[in-house]
Amino acid sequence: MHNEVEKDILKVLVSEEEIQRRVSELGEALAQKLAGKEPLFLGVLKGCFVFMADLVRACPLKCDVEFMALSSYRGGTVSSGRVEITQDLHSSVAGRDLVIVEDILDSGATLAFLKETLLERGAASITIVTLLDKPSRRTKAVAADLAGFTIPDAFVVGYGLDYDQKYRNIPYIGVLKPEAYSV
Ligand code: IMP
Ligand code: MG
Repeated sequence: MHNEVEKDILKVLVSEEEIQRRVSELGEALAQKLAGKEPLFLGVLKGCFVFMADLVRACPLKCDVEFMALSSYRGGTVSSGRVEITQDLHSSVAGRDLVIVEDILDSGATLAFLKETLLERGAASITIVTLLDKPSRRTKAVAADLAGFTIPDAFVVGYGLDYDQKYRNIPYIGVLKPEAYSV
């Protein structure tokens, strides 16, 4: 089905079925945690876009959906540690209950920066949801409130996650073959 891109995948780490089951659980957990609220789901582009689409449909709350783009990468598979807002929100988050939706929590630099920025802007509460968590690589003290899967220190792609902007359309989480890297 996705042969052109899937030929570069070494192995499947999390299957489509496992993802769908876990995303349903995360949606239900959010609905319980934020019962009675009207949260703003804030996706971190671009990696979140597939997860976000499934997560909001798994969460039966009245909510808003917004996106921000942040950049801490300068190509390759290693974070530079410096985070910039490359696309900001147009609306205020003051007094809002935010659900930050991330594809993967790695060094923590992106989410530590974003959480601090949104608290400074007056968010009432922040719930961090990440599909994947790589705790072994953390350099900043930031934790997810909800995480889909804890994974080992491997570079993964698919379900929104990229390598050099490619492989986002693979429907599962996979590990790339070493020869697919140019670093
Ligand atoms: P952090 O700031 O180091 O936590 O990195 C978070 C961002 O790095 C994620 O939102 C991803 O865009 C990217 N990233 C980290 N690890 C991976 C990976 O294994 N595959 C693809 N992107 C990754
Ligand atoms: Mg990302």
